[in-house]
This record gives sequence, C-alpha cells and structure tokens, in this order.
Amino acid sequence: MNSVREPIAVIGTGYVGLVTAAGFARLGSEVWCVDIDAEKVARLERGEIPIYEPGLAESIAGSRERLHFSTELAPALEHARLLFVAVGTPPTYSGDADLSAVHAVVDAMPRSDHHALVMKSTVPVGTGAAIRRSFEERGKGGFGYVSCPEFLKEGSALEDFLAPDRVVVGDDGVWAGDAVIELYAPLDAPLVRTDIASAEMIKLAANAFLATKISFINEIANVCEETGADVLEVARGMGLDRRIGTHFLKPGIGFGGSCFPKDVSALKQLAGNSGYHFQLLTAVIEVNELQKRRVISKLQKHLGSLVGKTVALLGLAFKANTDDMREASSLVLSARLQADGAKVRAYDPIAETEARKLMGGVELTDDALGAVAGADAVVIVTEWPEFAQLDWNTVAERMPGRLVIDGRNFIDPESVRAAGFIYEGIGR
Ligand SMILES: NC(=O)c1ccc[n+]([C@@H]2O[C@H](COP(=O)([O-])OP(=O)(O)OC[C@H]3O[C@@H](n4cnc5c(N)ncnc54)[C@H](O)[C@@H]3O)[C@@H](O)[C@H]2O)c1
Repeated sequence: MNSVREPIAVIGTGYVGLVTAAGFARLGSEVWCVDIDAEKVARLERGEIPIYEPGLAESIAGSRERLHFSTELAPALEHARLLFVAVGTPPTYSGDADLSAVHAVVDAMPRSDHHALVMKSTVPVGTGAAIRRSFEERGKGGFGYVSCPEFLKEGSALEDFLAPDRVVVGDDGVWAGDAVIELYAPLDAPLVRTDIASAEMIKLAANAFLATKISFINEIANVCEETGADVLEVARGMGLDRRIGTHFLKPGIGFGGSCFPKDVSALKQLAGNSGYHFQLLTAVIEVNELQKRRVISKLQKHLGSLVGKTVALLGLAFKANTDDMREASSLVLSARLQADGAKVRAYDPIAETEARKLMGGVELTDDALGAVAGADAVVIVTEWPEFAQLDWNTVAERMPGRLVIDGRNFIDPESVRAAGFIYEGIGR
C-alpha cells in the first residue's frame, strides 16, 4: 500500500479506536495509539488483543510495525497532526451522554496551529461547537476540529471500516477536513461533507432510526402472536419493498449493546434539553424494555411460577461475533429470572470473561450441553452459529424440561419439535 500516507493518532483503544487504528495502519499510515488504561496498552504492546472482533487480531499483527501503543500523548502529538478521538461516551443517569472522557482529551491538548481533533466518539449535537469555544477561550483557537462519526458494527467492524456505506466529515472547511477526506480516499466510499452539527446529528439520527425499525418489527411480532400471522413472513414481505429494506427487520428480545440504547436515549434527552419532546423515541425505548421482559411471560405461560425452576440461557453477548455485553438483553433476563426465584445456568462461546464480571448468581458453563443439564427450559438469547448446529435429541436427554424459547428466531423449529420440545419463537 501507499507508504507516504499521513501518520495519525488514535486516542482510546476500545472497539472503535482499535479498529480505526488497525484499518488506517492497513491502508499504510503509521498510527500512534494512546489509552489511559496502562494494562490494556501493555497487552497491546505484547500483541494481545483485548477485545474479540473477527479479523482484528490478524489485521493488527499484519501491520504491527506501523502501530505504536502508549499511555502518553506526547509521541502522538509529535508524530501526527490528526488525533482521532475514540473514547467512551456512556450514558449518565439522566440519559445524557457522559462526556468526561472527551473533555479529558480536549483539556490535554496543547496550543497548536497544526493539530486537529477528529471526533469518532458519538457525542451530542453541539459538542463540536462547545469544544471549539473552549479552545478559543483558552488561547488554543488554532487547534482544528473535525466531526467524523463512526458507523461500524461490532462483529463485522473491520469489514465495515474498509467498506463503509459512507464517510461523514463535518468541518469548517479548513485543512483538517481535507486531510481526513484524503485518509479515507482509498476506500472509495460515498462522502458526506457537511457542517459539524449536522455530522453529529447524522450519527444520532441513523442509530435512532435503526432502533426504531427494531422496535417497530418487535411490535409487529407481538401483534402477530395475537393474530396468528408469522412475523418472519411479514418481515420478508415488507423488506422486499426497497423503500423499507430487509435490514433491521429481525424481531427478537430487544436491542442492546453499547450504542443503540445510549444513542437513542442521548438523542431523546438532547431534544428534551432543547425543549422538544421526542415522542417517537420515548416509545422506541419503552417497547425495547418491555421486549426484553417478554421472555419471562412466555416462560410463565408454560411453566407457571418460576420459583425453583432452572432456566438455561444460550448466548450472553448482546449479539453474535462479539464479547461485548454492554446493555445485553441477557443481563435483564438473568436478573428478572433470579428475582422471580429461578436458577439460571448460562453459556456463551466468547463472552464468558465479561459475563463473570457482570452476572451475579448465574452459573456459567463451558458448553451449551452443560448449560441445559437439568434445565426446565432453554432460552436462545444470542444468535451464535453453534446454536443452530445443536443436536436437540442430545439436548432432550440432558434436561427434564421440554420448553425452548428462541429469542432470536434463529434455530429450526422443526428439529426442535421433532426432539419432543415445545418451540416458542418471537412473533410466529
Ligand atoms: N462500539 C461500537 O460499536 C461503536 C460504533 C460506533 C461508534 N461508537 C462510539 O465510539 C466511542 C467509543 O466506543 P467504544 O465501544 O470503542 O468504547 P470502549 O469503551 O470500548 O473504548 C474506549 C477506550 O477509551 C479509553 N479512554 C477513556 N478515556 C481516555 C482518555 N482520556 N485518554 C485515552 N483513552 C481513554 C478507555 O480506556 C477505552 O480503552 C463511543 O462514543 C461510542 O458511542 C461505538
């Protein structure tokens, strides 16, 4: 690849930061990565990848000589003009985004006329303007600022980086916006160059729209259950309409993860703070919360009281191909089950370490058959491919119960029923 590519810095080496660093290194840039988590930096320096993301370890190994990891900002500032910010912006109790990590980065920037922050973190509309004001007030007005929101999906993050649907660059027309566009040029993606506030809103609105699609199809699924329609047929018939599209029309037990719940609530809160009640998003959030709990009523319908019952959860990550458990439906489900007196056994192929930190009172097993042993019911929570391969006759031998709830409409109902189970999907 091109060996004279612009060197860059990436601040925050989590899901977005590491993928951004690996992606630009693969395109030929030297990448100076900075994180405050010294243990994470030490692991990265040793070549260990702290998160699970398909292809990421190989990609980092392949560009290892162009990737530099440190807890110090100085080398990044010395070698790079563009500092991509990919620190976390988790929700606060009020639903607003917590920008303390972003502010810490902004505060650490020196006076400079030849550096720019490139914001990859998802931030409320107005953040870029506020950062630029604070730079001005502190005599750092020469420091550039670009909004470049990230749209990657965990589970296919590197692929998404290398083949984005679009690149959004929000800037005020100075050098840094051009430099960011130049960096992305080899990807040949459609470019949306706009002002900073609009770039910030594009990210929040895109996530809110996708979350709305999910809550919409979940409500259709719930009505299908009452009326005898099959939501999978309905979603297919709807999705073939190009104005609608098939993506994100998959009914299930609600959306989770580090982005949708927090971004939807951040946009609702942002609207509220400026005096506008975003009714639609209020409903999207409520439908999602109720959807996570619907599995409980399905279990009760068949098992009666859950006191003393054993429920096996298959899959804990918020979706397949990631170990991320932030806002995962499994967390709500396991807590509700235990509150109702049930015993919970669970298995996830990748997220076990995260699960041990987050799930109290749950017995984690080494494989799916271990989780179902002695269970009264099985719930498919995450669509890991290995669950589609389960031999349901063997499962039937391990558990006394005969109930399978497929929270993702992911396994074949016929093979489950053929093994003597009652199968309940979502909306069918
Ligand atoms: N995860 C996703 O799928 C995704 C997709 C698009 C956008 N985003 C957005 O990108 C941002 C980052 O998300 P993530 O999932 O990668 O977060 P993450 O929690 O995985 O990583 C954040 C990293 O930033 C580091 N950090 C915190 N403060 C720092 C500081 N002052 N200096 C240097 N490093 C610091 C943390 O130690 C951590 O390693 C968020 O705003 C998120 O909303 C995430």
